[in-house]
Amino acid sequence: MSEASKKHLWWQKGVVYQIYPRSFMDSNADGIGDLPGITTKLEYVAHLGVDAVWLSPIFSSPMADFGYDVSDYTGIHPMFGTLEDFDAFVEKAHGLGLKVILDYVPNHTSDEHPWFVESRSSKVNPKRDWYVWRDAKPDGSVPNNWLSEFGGPAWSWDEKTGQYYYRAYHEKQPDLNWRNPEVREAMVDVLRFWMDRGVDGFRVDAVNHLAEDESFRDDPPNPDWDGKDSRHVYHRQIPIHTSNLPETHEAVADMRRTLDSHGGAERLLIGEVYLSGEELMAYYGVANDGFHMPTNMELVRAAWDARKISAYIEAYEAALPEGAWPNWVVGNHDNPRIASRVGKGQARVAAMLLLTLRGTPTIYYGDEIGMTDGDVPPELERDPVAKSVPGFGRDPERTPMQWNATEKNAGFSDSEPWLPVPEGDFATVEAQRGDSYSMLALHRKLLALRRAEDALSVGSYSPSEVRDDLLSYIRGHDGRRLLVALNFGEKDVDLDVPFRGRISLSTHLDREGEEVSDSVSLRPNEGVVVEES
Ligand code: NOJ
Repeated sequence: MSEASKKHLWWQKGVVYQIYPRSFMDSNADGIGDLPGITTKLEYVAHLGVDAVWLSPIFSSPMADFGYDVSDYTGIHPMFGTLEDFDAFVEKAHGLGLKVILDYVPNHTSDEHPWFVESRSSKVNPKRDWYVWRDAKPDGSVPNNWLSEFGGPAWSWDEKTGQYYYRAYHEKQPDLNWRNPEVREAMVDVLRFWMDRGVDGFRVDAVNHLAEDESFRDDPPNPDWDGKDSRHVYHRQIPIHTSNLPETHEAVADMRRTLDSHGGAERLLIGEVYLSGEELMAYYGVANDGFHMPTNMELVRAAWDARKISAYIEAYEAALPEGAWPNWVVGNHDNPRIASRVGKGQARVAAMLLLTLRGTPTIYYGDEIGMTDGDVPPELERDPVAKSVPGFGRDPERTPMQWNATEKNAGFSDSEPWLPVPEGDFATVEAQRGDSYSMLALHRKLLALRRAEDALSVGSYSPSEVRDDLLSYIRGHDGRRLLVALNFGEKDVDLDVPFRGRISLSTHLDREGEEVSDSVSLRPNEGVVVEES
């Protein structure tokens, strides 16, 4: 290891693996994944070659939004297990060299959280101001035009106390009032609780919504909204009074200070942010005192086009503030799976892209075997968004992990799973383990290469040739150079290589060691990493 690379922190050199707990492994035959189930699969995760596991919420919750509606921030939902199961999970993860990252949901609680139960009990309750309450307009209608991300107005009426409460998401997810110092203190205490239990970092949910305009002004209409937006009705307005307010950054800085005083830079703070350019970069904080990594979602929704993606990478790199660490994501539990978006062939190219860019990658569970979106018929839909904004349900990307085709329910559960597993021929861990050309084999090799090559994990990024379906770039560190060349198309592509070298890896897994002098040919849907000799 070179001197320069020693200075990097684990999360800068590392790779994060996201687990959606309901869907990873069910140990008690209730059809829903749980902590003991995840714990039994940690060897698999470690064997992949990742460095950290991020668990989507496992806390007490009525599950209106599958755990993103928390009713006790320091309790585990019995469906997932107990605090002892959690401790066992952390101990095993750490023993295998894996860090543990938890989801942290500060913007809203469940309406069943005792804080909200108190808050809604009377207008003079001490917790009234912990949430965002507002009178109706004189005609009884909602206080202003603010919209919910889950469709419709962002206000819900409380019959008993005769006021509306604000909720950026589901009516069962009332927004906390982050202007209230008691709320802030109670919420940073949650971070302390989990860090004391061994947690290495957090992924902060929906952070853009933490603060709302104090004078409750209407959001302006979006002039680009054409009534059939590529996303959904939420984009009818520009949420300038409900999203990304300056106060949000103060709250993030508070969270960061809490982490820094509990283990320093070894603790990782990731923020869920769907923005680009300056607005995204603001989440690093004024002096890198915000998130270590505000999520970079460019590749989650990008058109799969070599030139466009190259332009995204360059714009992102150019916008990064001094000292800010980049990160990359191609899929998560809120968006269609990469293999469905770009196709099976290109999913390999996407994996090579994700794992060879500068910055920390996050892999969504199942993408390492090329899982595609599940086929979830309307009667089996579970996501509330599937009902409130038809066509935008997130169940397809949340289907159970496909362990094998020999046991029932893809080896996920002995009972009917909460979401269906595919029928017929489908990708499984077991089949791909025995196949040295599989997607799983590709992930393991990419992860091993990234670990072995500082140039790939912490090296510089320099764009190289980009034309038609070709995207190529050079990663360099301490005089070592690697060229990454990706063919986004179905035709052969040739490109010049600026050095003599050999192929370290091809997405087709059949060219390792091939000598390269001054050019290389890529087959359809092929990516290669060429190391300088
Ligand atoms: C973002 C989460 O990823 C999503 O699943 C959830 O529905 C919303 N935030 C609300 O918590």
